[in-house]
Order: sequence, then C-alpha cells, then structure tokens
Amino acid sequence: MKIKAPRGTHDILPSQSHAWQFAENLFQKIVWQYGYQEIRTPMFEETDLFLRSAGDTSEVVTKQMYSFKDKGDRDITLKAEGTAPAVRAYLEHNLGEQGTMTRLWYRTPVFRYERPQTGRYRQHHQLGIECLGSSSPLADAEVIEIAIRFYRELGLENLSVSLNSIGKAQTRGAYREALLKHGQAYISDLAEEDQQKAEKNPLRLLDSKDPKAIAAFSDAPSIQDFLEEDSKVHADVLQSALTSAGIPFTVNPSIVRGLDYYNDTVFEILSGEIGSQSAICGGGRYDGLVKEFGGPATPAVGFGMGIERMLLVLEATGKIVPSPTPDAYLVAATESARLPLISLARSLREQGFSVGMDLDGKNLKAQFKAADRSNARFAIVLGDDEIASGTVSLRDLKASQQTIIKMEDLPNALR
Ligand code: HAM
Repeated sequence: MKIKAPRGTHDILPSQSHAWQFAENLFQKIVWQYGYQEIRTPMFEETDLFLRSAGDTSEVVTKQMYSFKDKGDRDITLKAEGTAPAVRAYLEHNLGEQGTMTRLWYRTPVFRYERPQTGRYRQHHQLGIECLGSSSPLADAEVIEIAIRFYRELGLENLSVSLNSIGKAQTRGAYREALLKHGQAYISDLAEEDQQKAEKNPLRLLDSKDPKAIAAFSDAPSIQDFLEEDSKVHADVLQSALTSAGIPFTVNPSIVRGLDYYNDTVFEILSGEIGSQSAICGGGRYDGLVKEFGGPATPAVGFGMGIERMLLVLEATGKIVPSPTPDAYLVAATESARLPLISLARSLREQGFSVGMDLDGKNLKAQFKAADRSNARFAIVLGDDEIASGTVSLRDLKASQQTIIKMEDLPNALR
C-alpha cells in the first residue's frame, strides 16, 4: 500500500513553491517597510497556551486542536494559531519596553482538525503580524493597510474589508444578555451545536451558518448599540483613517471572529473569487492577552492571512507567478569537454548564474533535449575546438541562433 499525505494536508510541489516564495518575499519586503521583524516560534506549545488565549468555547479549542501527551506526560498542542505563541515569546524574552512598540511578523504552518475542503486544510500556512504596545486606532488602520497593500501588490482584486467593533468585556456581557433575550423563543429549535453556543458564548450564534440560526438572529440587536463611548471613538477614528488611506470597507456587525482574545476592532478580508472559504485574512485588537499571560497591560493588534487561500485567488483569476528558469544549460560536444564543462558551470554559478548540465554522459541529442526541457534561454556548447580557441558556442534556444564568443565575454552575453 502506498502511503499518502495525511488527509487535509498537502505537499507544496516544485511547480508551486515559487509562487509561495514570491508571496512570502513580497510580504517580508512590505512588513519590513513598516518596521516589522520576524519571529519564529516552535511548532508545538503547552496546550494551556491555547486554552488560555483562544478561549475554551472557541471551535479552535473545543474541536480542532491537535493535542497529545508527550513521552514526559506533558500536554502539548501543535500550533493552532500564530498570535498566542508570538505573545508568549514576546513576554518570555522581554521583547517589549514600556512605552515602545514591538512589531513582529511570522510565516508559519497552523494545525487545525477541520473538515477538509478547497481552501480549508488540517495544516495550512499563515503570514501574520502582531503590533504590540499601541492602543491607537491608527495602529489598527496601519495593520489593515499592510494587508491590503500586500494583496494589491500581489495582484489580488475583488477584495472586501469587513469591519466590526465588539467593544470591551463589559459591553459583550450586556450584549450577550440582549442576544439571549432576543433568541429565547428560538434557541430550543436550533441545531445542538448552536444551542451549546447559546449556553457558552452567544456571540458565536451570529457566526452560525445554519439557516435556522441565521433567520432567528437576522433582526437581533446590534452590538454597535452597546458600545461604550471610547470604543465608539476608537471605531470612528479607525474608519476615518481607512477612508483617508483609500481602503474601502463595510461595517458588518455579525463579524465576531472564532478566537476569544479580541476586543474592539475585529476584521476580515474576503475574496469574491473562491467560494465559501472566502476569508483570506482575519485579525483584530487583543488588548488583554499579554496581561492574561502574566505580563504588563499591553495593547496589541494584528492579523493572520492564509497563504493557500490567497494563492487560490491568484489561480482563480488567472494570475500566474512565472517560475524562474535557469540562465543556461551547458552541453558537452565531446567526451574531453565534460570536465572543463564542470569547471565552467562552477565559475558561472559563482558569478550568480543558474546553469544546468548533464552529469550522466548523455549524448549530444539527449543533452539538447534536456536543455529544451529546462526552459533555459541559452545552451552553451563546449567541444575540443572551443577549448583550443578559448571560446564557447552560445545557442539562443528561443531564436535558434548560434554564435561563437570568447570565453571571457560569456558572462556579459548571458546578462
Ligand atoms: P484566523 O481567522 O483563525 O485568525 O486565521 C487567519 C486566516 O488563516 C484566515 O483568515 C484564513 O485565511 C486562514 N485559515 C484559517 N484556517 C484555515 C484552514 N483550516 N485552512 C486554510 N486556511 C485557513 C488567526 O489565526 C489569528 N491568530 C489572526 C490574528 C493575528 N489576530 C490577531 N493577530
């Protein structure tokens, strides 16, 4: 029996990895412009980290964590999201100084036991940023601007930013009561999962995909009407900053997010190109998390974006990231040219060129076939005559033209 990759995971093949590299390099370039530095945290953490941050009513915690006991009887969970590990490391290594901002970015696999479908995997990958130390709504705006700028430069179109404010803990307490009051006549008819949400965290009912819950809560009171004054001001300033940055958005009161650490700003960026798994980015403010982990009160905001989903959007819109091709393929015209050819390849590689060649003693015809297959622009042919005269034959494989040039002119010709 052949062993396959586990359900919900996928290999990133050579034909795809250049698109990943392209996106990751672009992301790295953009976040660097905003002062972000990379953090890499372990692939697994103590389970408590996620229990205390994502919240014990979130689906990530109740259903999706890859948790196990290690051989030392410790409770371990594969990285279920990027924020809690980054905040843990921030505290553990004192990365923050009071009154200053710390900007961290990461690229990481994330493990969630979900029902796999297109755009939803058990191991997916995220690019994310966490901006710690500012309570200003301008920090929220900057974080959203970074995501949009990245997507625009990547070539994604047909995106929308959905924004909401879920206020402070007290606000949500009062709002929960109001939601339950509104829904009391319907709750016993809802699916069991939604009944549990009503019991543990009624805000999640707004997120439900079940038509019964959607109908029951479509005319529910809006959290906007429960916000405290400073939350309202925060939301207003954020919206003005986004407008001034030329970033269109809609306020969507049903965005509550699947993780429990958020307050005030929450947002999602959706693509109209990839069906139901349309959220390509999600984030928000989490002013209580650093304190929850035992640190000083530290406001923070960030996002995580799914790499697979954004590549699906690129694919759906026919935007292809061209894969890089070698500069040249080296061809030995005679047996005695094989070793000198290896020296030539070494020298060209040291000068920064990417060159391919045969190492198995293939005949001339097979070498030219391989040159074509490699998609290199040039074939460089070396035989006894060329060696004797200090030249090479340079064949332009696209134009099918061949010229003889001096060995020392080869780098310039390739350039
Ligand atoms: P999240 O919304 O759970 O947020 O995930 C962020 C993004 O990861 C989603 O918008 C989606 O693009 C992608 N994603 C999530 N689950 C899957 C999956 N099963 N398959 C494929 N892609 C997926 C967080 O994880 C927060 N840590 C974001 C954050 C950072 N908030 C503040 N800072």
